[in-house]
Amino acid sequence: MPDHLQPAWLLAAHHHENQRYPTPVEGVTLPYLTHIGGVLIEAQQALHHHPEFDANLLLCCAILHDTLEDTDLSADEVRTTFGPVILAGVQALTKDESLPSKRAQMEGSLHRILAEAPEIAAVKLCDRINNLCPPPYYWTAEKKVAYREEAQIILRQLGHVSTYLSQRLADKIAAYGKGEGTN
Ligand code: NI
Repeated sequence: MPDHLQPAWLLAAHHHENQRYPTPVEGVTLPYLTHIGGVLIEAQQALHHHPEFDANLLLCCAILHDTLEDTDLSADEVRTTFGPVILAGVQALTKDESLPSKRAQMEGSLHRILAEAPEIAAVKLCDRINNLCPPPYYWTAEKKVAYREEAQIILRQLGHVSTYLSQRLADKIAAYGKGEGTN
């Protein structure tokens, strides 16, 4: 059994503690950890299809994937607790906000993800699968189209690491294109 999972989960819970995200229903938000749990569930399911994956690497990076980008957790703490390989995975999943546009930030991250083990690309696929849930009530049609296009780029660039996850993401993209995300 992967030995970093409980410490990673507690650390993510602690650092995402005060974050919530909007839902399709105005006035209703969810704890950010709901997203992290959703990505973790996707990753756990993917392991059934990929016994060759390093479960500790996959699941730890799933749990920690937004900590460096969205919380005050430091790279040093991730390295000290989980080691350099998990840190490199989480860093690849973190946008470089010094890049000028959202598009450049995404492409930079995808480039770095491709230089890591396939487990890291798998986490990114799980993340986007979970993110294609029904969007916040205030998103415009243009924003939804752009988000769907971004998902197609992610699928094209990373889909080769998992037939199972690419099919999941392709199905989510198709449902999103009909105007509805799915949980
Ligand atoms: Ni995420």
